[in-house]
Amino acid sequence: MQHLVSMEHLAVEEIENLIQKAMQYKAGEAVPNLKRRYIANLFFENSTRTKCSFEMAEHRLDMKQINFESSASSVQKGESLYDTCRTLQSIGCDALVIRHEQNHYYEPLLNMGIPIINAGDGSGQHPTQSLLDLMTIYETYGRFEGLKVVICGDIKNSRVARSNYHSLTALGAKVVFSSPDVWKDDSMAADYVELDDVIDEVDIVMLLRVQHERHAGVSQGFEKEEYHRRYGLTEERYATLQDHAIVMHPAPVNRDVEIADTSVEAPKSRIFEQMSNGVYIRMAVLTEILNG
Ligand code: CP
Repeated sequence: MQHLVSMEHLAVEEIENLIQKAMQYKAGEAVPNLKRRYIANLFFENSTRTKCSFEMAEHRLDMKQINFESSASSVQKGESLYDTCRTLQSIGCDALVIRHEQNHYYEPLLNMGIPIINAGDGSGQHPTQSLLDLMTIYETYGRFEGLKVVICGDIKNSRVARSNYHSLTALGAKVVFSSPDVWKDDSMAADYVELDDVIDEVDIVMLLRVQHERHAGVSQGFEKEEYHRRYGLTEERYATLQDHAIVMHPAPVNRDVEIADTSVEAPKSRIFEQMSNGVYIRMAVLTEILNG
């Protein structure tokens, strides 16, 4: 694997291999020696989980980090993303982890001769989030084939929905969406359903954050209580889930909007397990790309 930019570029075997490797790291298997490898983390959009768990993964692999700060860099003087990345390559970085607000920002960077790991591009893809979600599902069910998944919320603006739709479908799960009309996205072939029509038959309910920052005013008049009532995992909906069903959310969570406050850490929730798994998945991605 040269780069990781989209789940659509990963074969099923590569996905399965990364999940297995991450599970081995979680079980305590020794990690390869990446002591003399240098990684730069470039986050042009805010992040807590992805940024910190990449940093944690890099620490656990004993890698050397350059944490690039856009606000204190020559980006402020007009330097392009290409020239920023070319600079980091020139000074000796071995790979670049990048989050950027522009969809497909990575395309001009792919022939530069340095691996690009996409930590989220606009509303495009979030491959490491999808991989950690898949790992969490695999830990619960030991398979993907035949699982019923409802992904609920701001589908149109969600790179998590896009990455997971492609990967879960490729792995044999049945994915449906539930969303207000304004956030539907017909570029993916999933059916749209009412949450109440499927909540007692799904194996996985995956809530998405309402991405106000990408709505450009469209979400003015957004009513939190009304959204929660129609599209949220309310306490009542949580109670109707099958015994074995699990609840997922990429986070950050808007409590009592996408999910009832009391359900965030309830027994069926895997939200914090997803975050823990993110470190192992990112270790697996880094070792596969730098040592594969
Ligand atoms: N899930 C996720 O990408 O969270 P952050 O935006 O905090 O990285």
